[in-house]
Amino acid sequence: MIVVFSGPPGSGKGTQAQRVSKVFDLEYISTGNILRSEIALGSPLGRSVKDVIGSGAFISDKMVLEVLEAELRRKPSKALLLDGVPRTLAQAYMLDDLLAELGLPPVSIVIQFDIDDDVLVERIRGRFSCASCGASYHKKNNAPKIEGVCDYCGSKDFIIRQDDREEVLKKRLEVYYLETLPILGYYKSVGALRRVDASLTPDKVSEEVISIIKKKSEKGE
Ligand code: AP5
Ligand code: MG
Repeated sequence: MIVVFSGPPGSGKGTQAQRVSKVFDLEYISTGNILRSEIALGSPLGRSVKDVIGSGAFISDKMVLEVLEAELRRKPSKALLLDGVPRTLAQAYMLDDLLAELGLPPVSIVIQFDIDDDVLVERIRGRFSCASCGASYHKKNNAPKIEGVCDYCGSKDFIIRQDDREEVLKKRLEVYYLETLPILGYYKSVGALRRVDASLTPDKVSEEVISIIKKKSEKGE
């Protein structure tokens, strides 16, 4: 089963992916997390994308697909949770080809995280992330269970993302509406699109997402 999480910046894709991938034993792949790790390592890829990500723009479709392909070859699995990819129509078509080439099933569900822009600003303002595994937290709504310790990997290092400034968020939202929203029409046309109300509490959103994936997996798709 190949599941895609799609939605604007700050809608909770990463938060839900950390939770839900464990429930269904899905291999969790976030292109944003991979790119941020490359930036932290100072690799040639990281150096080439650092300024683009910091500005709130997208990196090229070709580069994203190369990153994704390398990750899929490194961690072969037929059960994937893709967070933040595809996010252009071209990436959606390229992903179809890549999955077929690797002998993987097509995308079965695309879960759209529906939320108003004004909620996103507050979420991004309060966000901090684990420096080691990328897990997202929020000062008020979603703090780690033990203060100062990541729930998922135990790291004690946290960072504030370079693209979490308000003016960059504005740009990220513009790009999202222009480039990413059109993929929803495509996934609707192939019967894969589902929607969740991403403004609910993290636990409520998890319930909705889990129920959608459960229904699909019970049908054996
Ligand atoms: P990426 O890392 O994918 O960022 P994004 O899509 O902008 O989304 P975010 O990670 O900011 O938000 P999220 O939805 O994961 O929310 P989160 O769970 O953290 O991409 C970053 C950049 O990399 C892109 O801008 C681009 O440059 C590049 N890139 C990556 N993939 C690419 C691609 N395919 N093509 C081209 N370029 C690409 O939650 C946000 C906050 O809210 C947190 O503080 C969290 O604790 C809190 N929160 C979460 N859920 C709730 C809730 N239900 N209630 C209250 N608070 C909540
Ligand atoms: Mg994220």
